Amino acid sequence: MDRILSKVTGEKKPNRAPAAGGEISPPRSLTRTVHWHANVSSRGLKTAGVLAMSLSPAEFRKAMGCFATGVTIITLDLDGEVHGMTANAFSSVSLDPPLLLVCVDHSAHTHAHMHSKKRFGVNILAENQREISDYYARPVHTHDQAEEIAGARFDRTEKGTPILHGALAYVECRLQSAQVAGDHTIFIAEVEHVVVRQGEPLLFFRGKYRHIGEGVG
Ligand SMILES: Cc1cc2nc3c(=O)[nH]c(=O)nc-3n(C[C@H](O)[C@H](O)[C@H](O)COP(=O)(O)O)c2cc1C
Repeated sequence: MDRILSKVTGEKKPNRAPAAGGEISPPRSLTRTVHWHANVSSRGLKTAGVLAMSLSPAEFRKAMGCFATGVTIITLDLDGEVHGMTANAFSSVSLDPPLLLVCVDHSAHTHAHMHSKKRFGVNILAENQREISDYYARPVHTHDQAEEIAGARFDRTEKGTPILHGALAYVECRLQSAQVAGDHTIFIAEVEHVVVRQGEPLLFFRGKYRHIGEGVG
């Protein structure tokens, strides 16, 4: 019988680990996973092979980058100011009740804001909003220049959450739970309000922005 035994060695914090390879800064360190292939007979362990696989953050990001996603801007109200962050580690979770999740790096400012505000919006970008994605993917981005540099303009919902002009869809959420997962936190939130508009999405695939192509059906 063939079995695979695995061990993680020298584990250090990777820089960023989004669900779909969205973040663009280089890895700080390597996480190495070593697998041994072992032959196990009825009389016990007989032979052990050598290294079968190693994994770095860059390799993990490359693999996850094969999973094409849309691009969102997470928005929060900070004492009357708009705070935004580009995110693609985003997914629906449940229909009843309506839940979604977003994974946020512990080093992002948004991480602390999500914990303190407990309310946020998710704006799903349209194909012409690439500059807005780039703008809110920078570590330092003040709201003052968002319109001038990236053409980002916002209204407010009844609850005061910023809603981006021209986004394909807007989802307003209330934080339900937060689960630490490695260097990110999975924020699960209940959806309270949605707005859907016509148009085509901005996509992200293999570290680059894309437009949607022809249907295949
Ligand atoms: C396409 C794309 C997707 C991203 N997805 C995420 C994500 O899901 N989670 C995350 O923590 N950072 C993600 N980032 C990186 C953040 O946008 C970036 O670190 C940002 O500067 C954080 O801003 P803040 O410090 O103001 O919160 C993504 C970046 C890009 C370009």
